[in-house]
Amino acid sequence: MKPGKMHFSFLPSLFLPILPLLIGPAWSDLPLITNCTLYDTGVLGVAPNQTFLSSPGIVAPRLCVETFDKHAVDKTPFLFFNYIFEGVSTPMILRSDDLSLVYADFESGFPIVSGAQIQNVAGEDSLTFYQGVRERTYGNGVGMVLDKSYGIRYEVLPIDAETDRGVDEHEFWATEEGSVIVEVYETVEGVNLTSVGGPEVGKIVDSTFQEINPATGEKLFEWRARDHFDIGDGYFVWNEERDAELGFEGFHMNSVSKVDGNYLISSRHFSLIALLDGTTGEIIWVMGGKLNDFQDVSPEGTALNFAFQHQARIHAGDQLTLFDNHQLANARGCTVNCSRAMRLQLDEEAMTVDLVSEYFHPAGLGSIAMGSHEELESGNVLVSWGSNPTITEHKESGEAVMDIRLEPLTGSMRAFYGGNGPYRAFKMDWEGTPSWAPGIAVEGDHVYVSWNGATEVDRWAVMTSDDPDGPPFLPFVRGNKNAGS
Ligand SMILES: *[C@@H]1O[C@H](CO)[C@@H](O)[C@H](O)[C@H]1NC(C)=O
Ligand SMILES: *[C@@H]1O[C@H](CO)[C@@H](O)[C@H](O)[C@H]1NC(C)=O
Ligand SMILES: *[C@@H]1O[C@H](CO)[C@@H](O)[C@H](O)[C@H]1NC(C)=O
Ligand SMILES: *[C@@H]1O[C@H](CO)[C@@H](O)[C@H](O)[C@H]1NC(C)=O
Repeated sequence: MKPGKMHFSFLPSLFLPILPLLIGPAWSDLPLITNCTLYDTGVLGVAPNQTFLSSPGIVAPRLCVETFDKHAVDKTPFLFFNYIFEGVSTPMILRSDDLSLVYADFESGFPIVSGAQIQNVAGEDSLTFYQGVRERTYGNGVGMVLDKSYGIRYEVLPIDAETDRGVDEHEFWATEEGSVIVEVYETVEGVNLTSVGGPEVGKIVDSTFQEINPATGEKLFEWRARDHFDIGDGYFVWNEERDAELGFEGFHMNSVSKVDGNYLISSRHFSLIALLDGTTGEIIWVMGGKLNDFQDVSPEGTALNFAFQHQARIHAGDQLTLFDNHQLANARGCTVNCSRAMRLQLDEEAMTVDLVSEYFHPAGLGSIAMGSHEELESGNVLVSWGSNPTITEHKESGEAVMDIRLEPLTGSMRAFYGGNGPYRAFKMDWEGTPSWAPGIAVEGDHVYVSWNGATEVDRWAVMTSDDPDGPPFLPFVRGNKNAGS
């Protein structure tokens, strides 16, 4: 099936005795780049990358590392994000401790991948992600659920939606009950758009979501923004050139999750987070935006002024986390009202919100689109800066202990239209046991080996024989996959 996924090259001569090889250093991937000023000039390419002799077709980003404190970063073993190279996108897994490539799949030829992460789907840890095309700012594709051997468990499509479109790229959430939640963007005609400066009879692209049992294909719940929100309560106004043909995208929902039987959603264009009744779909409360129900009790009144935000999640203890884009610019060097990852304290009785913590990018970034916020076990926070191709990790104090770029930080929109904006990033544990063999290549007196997404391999042995049909000799070279970098 899929080609080699983990990369390990072994440079010392094959004719060296075994023992020194066991303890000597092994060479693996190209070294990480540390001069990000040089990197950002673009001399290494718009997408600095490396390829592998033992895994033809696989491309890995050459990361620029602004900060990487090996001792302070969270020890969760793998880093997940979506990667794209020359029009082919893949879920990507790196080792957290040395940032080397573990898994990529360029063979499937996915146009856009987003949200790659491990979720427990119906009792089994699975690699889940969106794959499909991007139409303007929403997706038309499939929700993928892969098993430990990277085989397809489920491919989730909308059930009887009012559109031919597939699922959207923004969310793919596995519930505790074994179901999954997907978003679907529906085009609706005949909508009165005078409240946003549009025609009396116009077209919208509405946000909807469905909860589905992936094993039976049963639709368990469905919700449409147009049934509960007035189009005029958002921040976007009609733009003839942008909206007349394709429709006005007023709501733009970008996250949905299920919490205690209810649904938590985030609308970018309404700049609000809302809790919906899990049975009726009715709005229980709204936080932020024009319809806000809460009082901001933070010292500087900065708990509720989030805007165009992403990935709202409720945690135990009534805390809510999100990525606050805050502005419609891809700015660098921002000092006020920049993008941030935020943690809020809710009081649903008093209807108050306080700011617990906020995390800014060390380079003062404003991210126009995308982004994520993950709370790690150590208390650290992992942040994807979305349309700025960078991922950071912060201590509770806010200090960045990791700051890496997937490609030059130019402030352009390349990261959204064909470049590397990590829509979301996650650090997670994973046990990958691929069905395919490792890749191997011999060049001169060097043997190169790739690991194929296998996470449990500790040692390997290279066998040799003089006779192509004969039995292999005893291993004469051994390597430890952890010996590199
Ligand atoms: C990094 O690259 C820049 C631009 O090429 C160069 O001016 C600078 O000297 C380099 N810094 C280091 C530490 O090598
Ligand atoms: C990929 O890497 C090669 C070799 O370093 C470089 O020449 C090329 O420009 C890179 N591709 C992109 C799209 O940046
Ligand atoms: C559209 O909405 C506006 C403002 O609410 C209202 O005045 C107008 O009559 C509506 N048009 C139609 C065709 O319903
Ligand atoms: C920061 O954002 C607030 C609203 O969220 C706005 O009132 C204020 O003017 C902004 N400050 C600057 C310097 O842009």
